[in-house]
Amino acid sequence: MGKVLVIHGPNLNLLGTREPEIYGYETLADINDMLQKQAAADGVPADFFQSNHEGDIVDTIQQAPAKGYNYIILNAGAFTHYSIAIRDAIAAIDVPVIEVHLSNVHTREEFRHKSVIAPVVMGQILGFGVDSYFAAMAVVLRKIKQRLN
Ligand code: DQA
Repeated sequence: MGKVLVIHGPNLNLLGTREPEIYGYETLADINDMLQKQAAADGVPADFFQSNHEGDIVDTIQQAPAKGYNYIILNAGAFTHYSIAIRDAIAAIDVPVIEVHLSNVHTREEFRHKSVIAPVVMGQILGFGVDSYFAAMAVVLRKIKQRLN
């Protein structure tokens, strides 16, 4: 049995009203609800965490193995581009992390082109709006099924 943790970083609590032309009109609650249903359809439990605080995200990543999570889906928001602490937390655990972004960061400002977490994640999915999250969840659910076979 697999268990998934979805972590949303800073300002993602404002989804729905935050620059909707970039990030879309779905709220974080809408996204979590749809992800929860997607996982539940395969009998996989999913938990959700959002924080605007770097240390809280580091703590949550550190605690993921002990809490039995098999995969983490992470949109680290702006921390993606400069948080060595989050990168080190990902590197310190043996739980695979899938990096997600709603927007295509490579078509945006230069400072968004660099992801300091990219070298320590399993892979990245970005630029598909909310579908980036659903694609990441689809990958995780397939991986969990493959392990059971
Ligand atoms: C984001 C992209 C980041 O550059 C930005 O700081 C965010 C959201 C995305 O999902 O597209 O907060 O991670």
